[in-house]
Amino acid sequence: MVFGKHVNKFYKKYFWYFFFGILFLIFVDVIQVFIPKLSGNIADNVIDKNLAGTIFGIESNYANLIKDILLISLIGIGMFIGRYCWRILIFGESVKVQADLRKDMFEKCEELSQRYYKANKTGAILSYFSNDLETIEEAFGFGIVQLVDGIFLLIISLVGMFLIDWVLTLILLIPLVILCVFAITIDRIMEAKWGKRQKAFEDLSDFAQENFTGIRVIKAFVKERKELKQFSKVAKSNQDTNIEFAKTSAILDVVFEILIYFVFGLILLGGSYLVYLHIKSGGDPKVGISVGQLITFIGLADTIIWPVFALAGTINLIARAKASLKRISTLLDEKIEIKDLDVITHTNYQGKIEFKHFNFAYPDDPNTLILKDISLKINAGETVGIVGKIGSGKSTLVNMLFRLYNVDEGTLFIDDIDIMHLPIKEIRENIGYCPQDNFLFSDTIKNNIAFSNENMSITEIKEAAKFSSVDDNIEEFKDKYETLIGEKGVSLSGGQKQRISISRAIVKDPKILILDDSVSAVDIKTEETILSNIKNIRKGKTTLIIASRVSTVQHLDKILVLRDGQVDAFGTHEECLAKSKIYARMVELQLLEKEMEEK
Ligand SMILES: Nc1ncnc2c1ncn2[C@@H]1O[C@H](COP(=O)(O)OP(=O)(O)OP(=O)(O)O)[C@@H](O)[C@H]1O
Ligand SMILES: [Mg+2]
Repeated sequence: MVFGKHVNKFYKKYFWYFFFGILFLIFVDVIQVFIPKLSGNIADNVIDKNLAGTIFGIESNYANLIKDILLISLIGIGMFIGRYCWRILIFGESVKVQADLRKDMFEKCEELSQRYYKANKTGAILSYFSNDLETIEEAFGFGIVQLVDGIFLLIISLVGMFLIDWVLTLILLIPLVILCVFAITIDRIMEAKWGKRQKAFEDLSDFAQENFTGIRVIKAFVKERKELKQFSKVAKSNQDTNIEFAKTSAILDVVFEILIYFVFGLILLGGSYLVYLHIKSGGDPKVGISVGQLITFIGLADTIIWPVFALAGTINLIARAKASLKRISTLLDEKIEIKDLDVITHTNYQGKIEFKHFNFAYPDDPNTLILKDISLKINAGETVGIVGKIGSGKSTLVNMLFRLYNVDEGTLFIDDIDIMHLPIKEIRENIGYCPQDNFLFSDTIKNNIAFSNENMSITEIKEAAKFSSVDDNIEEFKDKYETLIGEKGVSLSGGQKQRISISRAIVKDPKILILDDSVSAVDIKTEETILSNIKNIRKGKTTLIIASRVSTVQHLDKILVLRDGQVDAFGTHEECLAKSKIYARMVELQLLEKEMEEK
């Protein structure tokens, strides 16, 4: 059982599961304590030769014995049914809680900004979804069972024992109280240790994940040994924290066991003495206890062992769940930075873009301006090329258009409306984006192209593939458009990836299309085809093409040359050539290259 802002709602949502689950649990507990009582009865009746009587109206020499055995069997059946019911209810509810919480977390992950993913490693986030969620599920399942079971069995058994002999029960209570105090003190230590253990696991999974992703680089640089060494270090730290945790758990278990045997020792010692007094007095019910009562007492004490263990287990489990919930809460409590503010409704997007004295610094380094005083206007329907040196801010500039980051009000406008007042979802729906890394999902080619709209027909998908000259390539694959990409499928070449990524962007037929360095890995001829296709299909729609070759951009409507995050030139090929040294140099280099090729 664990409480907190993010899980309290589940107690309400699954109230009936909890209610009936706990009811069945208590039912089993209550009938269970009759077994030691009946066992004691049987022993006393055998000793006192008190077995004869009537059963179902029939006289029998063993009637009392048969009655007790029948009752024990009935209790057994009742316990079986009751246990089945509470397991279905409580464990079912815990699985549902886990699923709900996972959904909440995933939803949150989708909303979080780039900054969060930069600050938090993938391995850490994944461990929230695996280890931490599992612990919370356990707390909602086993935790609840152990707590309710523990408390009820403890109370019922103690009452039963008090009725037999209160002195013996009091003697028994001393080690039990010590046990509880001990368990509670250990709670804090266990919580801290569990947090440490999860952190170590997080580091381990993060390291492994990064290594598998970067396996090609590691191999190419022959750094397997170095990575193995590093891995051994991380694994050792994970192992150490696990051993430390196991050690503390083991000590806890052993101490509990010793205390329990000590309790049994006390019962046997004191109980035998009381039986001795009882027999010595000639069976006086006021003196000592009978053999049957001692059997009942031992049975009840035995019933107590589970609750006591359960209590210790629950304390342990709750400590772990608390630590896990704390970690998950850091994700769920994360502030959403990019959200709609006083939105203005705008339905008919045209694709006009305007930057007015626009400045931008990434949130994790607010003092370094990446884009500086950018002022430019791109009219709806224009095709604009963007060039500039590595790191000059080209990708950053186009990323601004999706509201991936918050920008200063009054500096960036789409269709003359401040981007900060346009609904984020709508802006993004009207933009087609082909990212620089050409990320594709481990899915079929078809689904990758149709990512923006799953109901797209295969003809539309094929059209998009033809647009970026990748249709022939796809048709050559054995499974054609059903070919799986990535982990479990084929590995695509850089150029194929780029072209599929262009198809995915174009298929949306967006008002603004952004291609970030998307034709760098294709040959000049394919580039020309793609560019002429863009010209035809993108008439009247805005297209921004970031490129590294002059040949890509020279025939476009306008060219933007960036230098250190500033506008170096913005205009036609000729205008840029006259104004920008960088652009002039790029043109020069291209001519030289051409000459070299011709030679
Ligand atoms: N997420 C980020 N957080 C912090 N700084 C960033 C981030 N992304 C890019 N930068 C920095 O911003 C600057 C511009 O990067 P950007 O990716 O926009 O350059 P680019 O012109 O697209 O380069 P390239 O030609 O290599 O694609 C670089 O100095 C880079 O280090
Ligand atoms: Mg870039």
